[in-house]
Amino acid sequence: MAATLITNIKQLVNVREEWPVLRGKELAELPCISNAYLLIEDDTIAAYGKMEELSSATRLMPAEVIDASGRLLLPAWCDSHTHLVFAASRENEFIDKLKGLSYAEIAARGGGILHSARKLNEASEDELFNLAWKRLEELARLGTGAIEIKSGYGLTVSGELKMLRVIKKLKQRSKLTIKATFLGAHTYPLEYKNDHQAYIDQIIGEMLPVIAQEALADYIDVFCETGFFSPEETATICKAGKQYGLKPKIHANQLNLSGGVQTGVALGAISVDHLETMDEHAIRSLAGSQTIGTLLPTAAFFLRMPFQPARALIDAGCAIALASDFNPGSSPSGNMNLVVNISCIQMKMLPEEAINAATLNGAWAMECAGTLGSISIGKKANLILTKPVPSLAYIPYSFGSNLIDMVFIGGERTGSNH
Ligand code: NIG
Ligand code: FE
Repeated sequence: MAATLITNIKQLVNVREEWPVLRGKELAELPCISNAYLLIEDDTIAAYGKMEELSSATRLMPAEVIDASGRLLLPAWCDSHTHLVFAASRENEFIDKLKGLSYAEIAARGGGILHSARKLNEASEDELFNLAWKRLEELARLGTGAIEIKSGYGLTVSGELKMLRVIKKLKQRSKLTIKATFLGAHTYPLEYKNDHQAYIDQIIGEMLPVIAQEALADYIDVFCETGFFSPEETATICKAGKQYGLKPKIHANQLNLSGGVQTGVALGAISVDHLETMDEHAIRSLAGSQTIGTLLPTAAFFLRMPFQPARALIDAGCAIALASDFNPGSSPSGNMNLVVNISCIQMKMLPEEAINAATLNGAWAMECAGTLGSISIGKKANLILTKPVPSLAYIPYSFGSNLIDMVFIGGERTGSNH
């Protein structure tokens, strides 16, 4: 058995015997143990506690010992919303935006998602896999241990299936925990601009049956937004997905008060994601539900939109998670450290709230909290060991520095930032 003993940990962060989804005030409670040890056996957290409780039996185990003096050990980030599989970057549109065009204007010119869809349909499955694999490796070095990945740049039967097969292969080959989401309803392909129903029929009649048959997705997503999919269309597509066992996780209230939050709540969605544009009704609806609100602050940052109203959501008692939205159009970074930094700096989340939202609640937003998202006996040893830091608050405070010393995925050290 492979064992690693980490000793003299300055602070072991997010230690839990029970791991309920956290809402409202609970988000600010981040249980920690100072001067701690943690034992990894194979791919699992086998034991932890205070250094003085480290039994001589554990000390004598044939284990690699890592002295973590001055450093923090956290659960790896759980990034519950990404579009990691794409064929090409879109920095030209970035320049167009610097020159004054809006996201919606770029989309209307056939740029944006449609541009990514053209590129994706031209790329081979192997090319897409290799590009996504490199991105995944980089994210693992940045501390991401679990990730949700969406389709949605195919927008044709073959393109959507190709994307989902790439995600399935990533799942099979990567040590990260990966969840797949079918986002055929990301936008309308140009040829369906005036016949929305025909595209919805294709999603329901041609894509979903194959996705179900090949077990290509865990969730279904719809971009519920003015100019994209209406709440009614969102409900139709999600209900069809549910028939095949796919639970909804939807894009809601990014650009407009789209009704997406209420639609997601009514559908029993696992999460409603984005939430830049919220009003009292949407906040109350989310607070009174089991649905997690997933905030994507790097998308708001990159698009120069108002940030998500994290404080109002927390004060209303919502369960919120943080994710990167990694995609070539609105968040060309999957760096969860930056997501945590920006959440504290721009949304006034407390460090404890941001860390809980980016670990345990992120795990809940992918339904993998039973195995990830906290330091708990029996959970998978996906862990971040920081460099020496003065305190926990230094993590969001010191934005732009890479504070990660080592990352463990399934108990194994992955890459090194030395
Ligand atoms: O989550 N809003 C819709 N989808 C992505 C953007 C996709 C793109 O621009 O390529 C998002 O922000
Ligand atoms: Fe997204």
